[in-house]
Amino acid sequence: MEKINAVITGVGGYVPDYILTNDELSRMVDTNDEWIMTRIGVKERHILNEEGLGTSYMARKAAKQLMQRTGSNPNDIDMVIVATSTPDYHFPSTASILCDKLGLKNAFAFDLQAACSGFLFLMETAANFIRSGRYKKIIIVGADKMSSVVNYTDRATCPIFGDGAAAFMMEPTTEDVGVMDAILRTDGKGLPFLHMKAGGSVCPPSYFTIDNHMHYIYQEGRTVFKYAVSNMSDACVAIAEKNNLNKDNINWIVPHQANLRIIDAVAHRLEVPHDKVLINIERYGNTSAGTLPLCIWDFEEKLKKGDNIIFTAFGAGFTWGAVYVKWGYDGKKQ
Ligand code: UT7
Repeated sequence: MEKINAVITGVGGYVPDYILTNDELSRMVDTNDEWIMTRIGVKERHILNEEGLGTSYMARKAAKQLMQRTGSNPNDIDMVIVATSTPDYHFPSTASILCDKLGLKNAFAFDLQAACSGFLFLMETAANFIRSGRYKKIIIVGADKMSSVVNYTDRATCPIFGDGAAAFMMEPTTEDVGVMDAILRTDGKGLPFLHMKAGGSVCPPSYFTIDNHMHYIYQEGRTVFKYAVSNMSDACVAIAEKNNLNKDNINWIVPHQANLRIIDAVAHRLEVPHDKVLINIERYGNTSAGTLPLCIWDFEEKLKKGDNIIFTAFGAGFTWGAVYVKWGYDGKKQ
């Protein structure tokens, strides 16, 4: 029997209309454009500020564009997985809400939570369902409304994050393209450095948790920075060595967009020139599970069939890794 590979056959994306600039942020907290640009690299971020809209709204917009670009019939989709840390509700899953909004009748759906590494873990997870031979069309979405968990009085975290969503279609192929390899890791010792203190089962919401700002992102930035650089770099080097990839035959690096200095350090370690690194942090900030597919959404027209791409991310957990993808088609799908 021929080997089944899992190939990405299309991309859709969405960012909300409202743009929060560094100038506006500097009227909210004690910061300025120069500090944010030199220390993080974000100029502006999109914010979903309409009352009553959550992550599934952005996921739906992205998935609708994906279905239109891939000419997909809703009845042919057999699975939907959404990577998010900011689901619409604790339950049901954002994926089940998405299924309903897309009118999918033959799919099962669930969420995957691996913080900023969510979409990285999701690509390998969905690929294994495709490789099993049982599933033919899977929609995978990375979506986060980070503005719902950002403390806009904390200058150390509020400039970093934005809202957005993007989606891939994954399908079987016997061609030598698709998700070729993955090195994924989790180390729960990262908990103290990056988490949300309340709202879960350990510390349910109360007047105390609200009064003490415990429903926001808590991050020890310097520690997270250090682990992000070393773990992402190590994972990229390991996957490159394992697959005979080097600075000459790697076409693109797609890094999690958390901090431009982290991206530069990873590219430097891999000795890959800057023009092979896909970067859009300046316009979107860190959209958590959204960053990797949003990057492909933005730069799709540059990609060629057979291009060697290394995706890499780092997030709360800690979670991190690298996924090697051989791209499946030329240019942008309209
Ligand atoms: O996606 C999940 C994974 N997360 C990440 O990868 C984030 C990793 N960490 C980072 O990106 C960086 O650590 C931050 C962007 C969060 C912070 O940058 P930093 O260079 O590590 O700054 P710092 O926390 O060491 O702070 C340096 C100084 C401090 O002042 P003092 O103590 O030196 O006087 C801060 O108070 O910068 C100050 N500062 C600011 N100044 C102006 C912190 N935030 C701001 C700000 N504007 N927004």
